[in-house]
Amino acid sequence: MCGLVGYIGKKKRAIPVLFTGLEHLEYRGYDSAGIAYFENNELVIKKEVGRIKCLKSVVDLNICANLGIGHTRWATHGKPSKINSHPHNYKSITIVHNGIIENYLELKNYLVKKNYRFKTDTDTEVAAVLLYDLYKSTKNILKAIHKFEEKVIGSYAIGLICNNEPDTLYAIKKNSPLIIGIGDDENFIASDILAISSYTSRYIVLNDGDYAKITADEVILYDNTDNIIEPEIKEFTDKNEIIGKNGYEHYMLKEIHEQPMIIKKTADIKFNLDISKYKRIIIVACGSAMHAGFIGKYLIEKYDNIPVDVEMASEFRYKKLFLDKDMLVIAISQSGETADTLEAIKIVKKEHIKTVGIVNVKESSIAREVDKVIYTEAGREIAVATTKAYSAQVLVLSMLAYKACKDEILLNDFMDNLRKLPILIDNILDNESDYKEIANIIYNERDIFFIGRSIDYALCMEGSLKLKEISYIHSEAYPAGELKHGTISLIESGTPVIGIVTDKSIAGKTISNLKEVKARGAYVIYVTTKDLYVDGDFYDKKIVLPEISDIFKPLISIVPLQLIAYYTARLNKCDIDNPKNLAKSVTVE
Ligand code: G6P
Repeated sequence: MCGLVGYIGKKKRAIPVLFTGLEHLEYRGYDSAGIAYFENNELVIKKEVGRIKCLKSVVDLNICANLGIGHTRWATHGKPSKINSHPHNYKSITIVHNGIIENYLELKNYLVKKNYRFKTDTDTEVAAVLLYDLYKSTKNILKAIHKFEEKVIGSYAIGLICNNEPDTLYAIKKNSPLIIGIGDDENFIASDILAISSYTSRYIVLNDGDYAKITADEVILYDNTDNIIEPEIKEFTDKNEIIGKNGYEHYMLKEIHEQPMIIKKTADIKFNLDISKYKRIIIVACGSAMHAGFIGKYLIEKYDNIPVDVEMASEFRYKKLFLDKDMLVIAISQSGETADTLEAIKIVKKEHIKTVGIVNVKESSIAREVDKVIYTEAGREIAVATTKAYSAQVLVLSMLAYKACKDEILLNDFMDNLRKLPILIDNILDNESDYKEIANIIYNERDIFFIGRSIDYALCMEGSLKLKEISYIHSEAYPAGELKHGTISLIESGTPVIGIVTDKSIAGKTISNLKEVKARGAYVIYVTTKDLYVDGDFYDKKIVLPEISDIFKPLISIVPLQLIAYYTARLNKCDIDNPKNLAKSVTVE
């Protein structure tokens, strides 16, 4: 959520480096952007509302600056506007900030009483003023940072520059990701390695409470007890897969098409985790990762007889928890940075409950926090709407269910079917015209319903979220049997209802529910697998998917739903890779 980058060096002009970084970070938030740099020792700040390209069009890239910070914003406090955009400056202090200063109102009142005046609605301006106030009294940035950390509650990754030190960059981190990139005669800061990976592969991950003083030749790192610590320099090795749409019009389409390859890669993961020894499992996650968790719940309960609760991390944090030592808590997260999921894990760890993370981004906060991490191997996902990472999460959950399973039939055909899976998905991807046709039917609609039962309901949740998040059409996922208890009143002549029927045990019942909506005029799109397909007059369009063992049906059924969402959004001329109001990685509560 939001992205920040900073550069100090003797080799390059700072501004193009900042823009490269910001462009790579744009997927994290993109309602406004800004940079600050020193030109002939004078501070310059440029900000614009809108995408990075709007900012780029008003900045001269050739300006000679060797220090700068930049930010792309996803508004939390204060609407997206030029004044609310980062960097925020107060006299000699200028900062960019990701995260939320939770006690900012209290701090603001304190500062107002000290006669400071504020221009914006943001929590970040309060952080800038507070840092200035502390700097004024201590005359030393490091001391000011130390006091700042004592006073501030919340999450922050901050890049700071000071007019009196035009050759130094400061970094401060708590509960929001921040790294320092190491170069020769140059150093960087960024909220994500992606921002700087075209310049360096060596980096330091800051821990909560850490802060650093960075010049072109040196990084001095302090921990939360203000001791200088020896940084551990890591090497980023995934450079080759980075960035590029590979000829596809959008990252989302590219990532959907990468799924067969990702399934192959994820299938090769070796992990040493047998869930059968746990009496209960809780899965915590948000958004699509939570939907993957629901698929996992059905599979683990069905094949392993272990009760599984799926908990929305933002709710889990604040509810009464019934935890016991025999349980396992699984956090699922593509980014590994989702604040609510991370916090949920911290809560259960305090109770000494075993935690596992199913995470895509290596070395991310959740990956580091859990007792054991399983990396999903989906590669870097750029489109905000997740596709390949979701599928990799579902596959890992299927593999966990399989490993703990005693069911002979599943054990016998799992590996064979797993081998077939990428080819089947490839074939499903080839049927583009079917999905385009459905998109043509639904793209002008106001409301769309996805209905299914048991595991198919879990699929509906993801299909519906994909559609609404990128096409902005209101869409609801409903358990097919529950629809008649109220929501069916919204079905009118022509209302599209996408019915998912892939679960043998409940297929007949779902078809009855499709008949109920058809009788009320719905336009029914029937999505099923070859083995369960039945003909009849209860549908208007059908998608019949190839046969595969039950455990893998979610992995093939999601693909048409992703593509229907994609083509619908395209017809509506939506900004598919960067849907409005969303961010890829939600590092605030
Ligand atoms: C955001 C993204 C969703 C994602 C969710 C959880 O809302 O837009 O696509 O599913 O966060 O993210 P995570 O990185 O934890 O999987």
